[in-house]
Amino acid sequence: MFARSAARALASPSRLFSTSASRHTKVAVLGAGGGIGQPLSLLLKSDPLVSSLSLYDIRGAPGVAADVSHVDTASEVNGYAADKLDEALDGVKVVVIPAGVPRKPGMTRDDLFNTNASIVRDLATAVARIAPTAHILVISNPVNSTVPIVAATLEKAGVFDPAHLFGVTTLDVVRAARFLAGVSGASPNDTPVTVVGGHSGATIVPLLSQSPYGKGISGEAYAQLVHRIQFGGDEVVKAKDGAGSATLSMAYAGAKFTNSLLRGLNGEKGVITPTFVKSSLFADQGIDFFSTNVELGLNGVEKIHPIGPLSAEEEKLMEACLPELKKNIEKGKAFVA
Ligand code: NAI
Repeated sequence: MFARSAARALASPSRLFSTSASRHTKVAVLGAGGGIGQPLSLLLKSDPLVSSLSLYDIRGAPGVAADVSHVDTASEVNGYAADKLDEALDGVKVVVIPAGVPRKPGMTRDDLFNTNASIVRDLATAVARIAPTAHILVISNPVNSTVPIVAATLEKAGVFDPAHLFGVTTLDVVRAARFLAGVSGASPNDTPVTVVGGHSGATIVPLLSQSPYGKGISGEAYAQLVHRIQFGGDEVVKAKDGAGSATLSMAYAGAKFTNSLLRGLNGEKGVITPTFVKSSLFADQGIDFFSTNVELGLNGVEKIHPIGPLSAEEEKLMEACLPELKKNIEKGKAFVA
């Protein structure tokens, strides 16, 4: 019984990857030797839409590449050491960036700014030079600031295309679906939640009122669920007790978002998921990056969806989100300026 269902699951990894399209793509992972980078590289090796994987890190990427390259899928894998960034980026269409330090207990994502801002800026400078039309997926925290840093760096280099830059907020979406499933007793397949705003604490705004399973939840249960979605990352940081933050669930989320983008780039219609992009939705309030449902298509960002109707509680969550998000974005921009 187990053997049969396990074999079926392996034969059809449909929860993570969909393969209806047929064109294939070269993908680079910058930070491939890290806690996220390693399992992310493994999952991307399993994605049939990836034809070639370029794994780069200042430490350990050739070893990860040699290991992952033995997996029996068609894609080729190459590893690049610290001085080989330009080679790693040659010809890539999609660049995923999990390079940088993770949180330790007691730290906020903003505490990572000083270290990660320059790492992300330097990697973006190289992408601008070697692969200026690539789609860039930023995982490195604080995402609310690192995405504006990448945008400003590309702008300086004269190659910024807002349709090609994404902050990966998929882990918040994955957590929201999983936690809502836990509360409602439904399957996570049936409990997707649109999560808008940014990717840290109060800037993470789950729109539970738009979910058939979420809209009935109120009072203390609602408050606890929202808190868990906003601060779920802290549970992992605490449990790992100094050894880092979410890596395995983040690798899953990163591979899932990459697959969604590749499906869009290959012409599949109706691929819609939240992601943190350059957006005019709140530009009148000085906030020009925002995560909301985005339709992914041939050129990356195809259409940015409005946030839709909000409940009274969600209006309050938005009031807390916007000023903090604005501060995070301005901090990123100021770093590059
Ligand atoms: P880690 O420390 O295990 O790995 C980071 C890797 O980046 C290391 O292998 C390191 O050698 C590499 N690296 C550092 N500087 C580099 C450079 N200039 N070029 C290339 N590689 C470089 O950290 P982990 O756990 O993999 O986390 C990575 C980042 O992802 C952190 O900033 C973390 O906060 C963030 N993160 C983001 C999430 C999200 O939802 N967007 C969720 C969880 C973590």
